[in-house]
This record gives sequence, structure tokens and C-alpha cells, in this order.
Amino acid sequence: MIKLNGLDKINIAVFISGKGSNLKNLIKFSTKKKSRFKIILIVSNNSKSIGLKYAKQFKIKKKIIKYRDIKNSENLLIKRLKKEKIHLICLAGFMKILSKRFIQKFDGKILNIHPSLLPKYKGLNTHKRAIKNKDRYSGCTVHFVNSRLDSGKVILQKKVKILKNDSSKSLAKRVLKEEHILYPKALVKISTNL
Ligand code: GRF
Repeated sequence: MIKLNGLDKINIAVFISGKGSNLKNLIKFSTKKKSRFKIILIVSNNSKSIGLKYAKQFKIKKKIIKYRDIKNSENLLIKRLKKEKIHLICLAGFMKILSKRFIQKFDGKILNIHPSLLPKYKGLNTHKRAIKNKDRYSGCTVHFVNSRLDSGKVILQKKVKILKNDSSKSLAKRVLKEEHILYPKALVKISTNL
């Protein structure tokens, strides 16, 4: 990973697979006055990700990775990330699991946002499981990525109360709003230690 000089901007690659609302929000945050963050590259494993439209809209480069041959794809991706001098990777709705090798290369420099109060509900359908278990709260977590799924060190979490008539959809909508606040906060929190 490229070393960061104290005064440099922090170059970020955001990895997505779908809608990209977190991506859009991170872009907006990074373009604020005095921001230390710059979104340099949008990476997706899915050329049809709706979120890729933000590449065009905000004039950010994009890279589609084909996952047929993981080792080869990740090697190409690593080269590209080096070329773009990326300091930090933000996963935001990225639905592929990165290899151990890739994660080790960027050790401590990959963040993810997950829609649950980790360590509860790793993986998919988090809100559905929280409602089914009659939990009082769901929420979201920004954490470092390690080689075990949704298990890296927690950076920040936000609780969201589960309402009586919540469906997983209504709950997901409220949690997503909180995700948009939490991810930028988490970036600021870790940026001093990069
Ligand atoms: C979010 O709920 C995030 O927590 C999860 O995937 C969803 C991505 O949403 N990892 P979006 O693509 O950012 O709108």
C-alpha cells in the first residue's frame, strides 16, 4: 500500500456491487471544503451496478472486475490501485469476498459498512434476522476488513430502534440513513492513524 505523507489527501477507492447510495454519500462528503479525502476510483464486480452512474456524474474513474479468475483479476486490480496511489479502500455494498492475499496486501486499509450491530448478524438478511429474533435494535457498523467475513475490528456503530410494525425493508431504509452519517465519521476517525 502507498505510504501517506501527513499533508497529502487520502486517496480512496470505493468498491460497490449495487445501488451505491453509500458511494454517492462518500463522494459528496469528500468534495466538502477542507476535506482530506478524495475518491479516485470506483470499482465494481458488476458492470450493471446502478452506482456506476456516479462515475460519470462526478467524473471519477471506474474499473469493472470480472471474477472468473480471481487471482488474475485481483492482480490486475492491485496494479491499478497502485497506479492510482490508493491509500484506502472502502467497501460499500460490495458483494464479493476478497481473497486473503488481497486483504493482507492492504492490511488495515480496507473498511466495510455492514447493516447490523456486529458481531451480531454477519452475512446477509441482517434486518430480517433481527426482527425475527425480536431484537429491540438493529443498526450499522463500520469495521476494518480482515480475512474472516464481517469480523474485523469495529470502528464505529450506530444503533437504530426496531419499531413495532417494521418490515426488513422499512428498517433497512432507516438504517441506511444512519449508514450515510456513520461512514464519513468512521473515515475521519481513522484518518489520523493512517
Ligand atoms: C448497505 O446496506 C450496506 O450496509 C451493505 O450493502 C448496502 C449497500 O447499499 N453492505 P448502497 O449500495 O450503498 O446503497
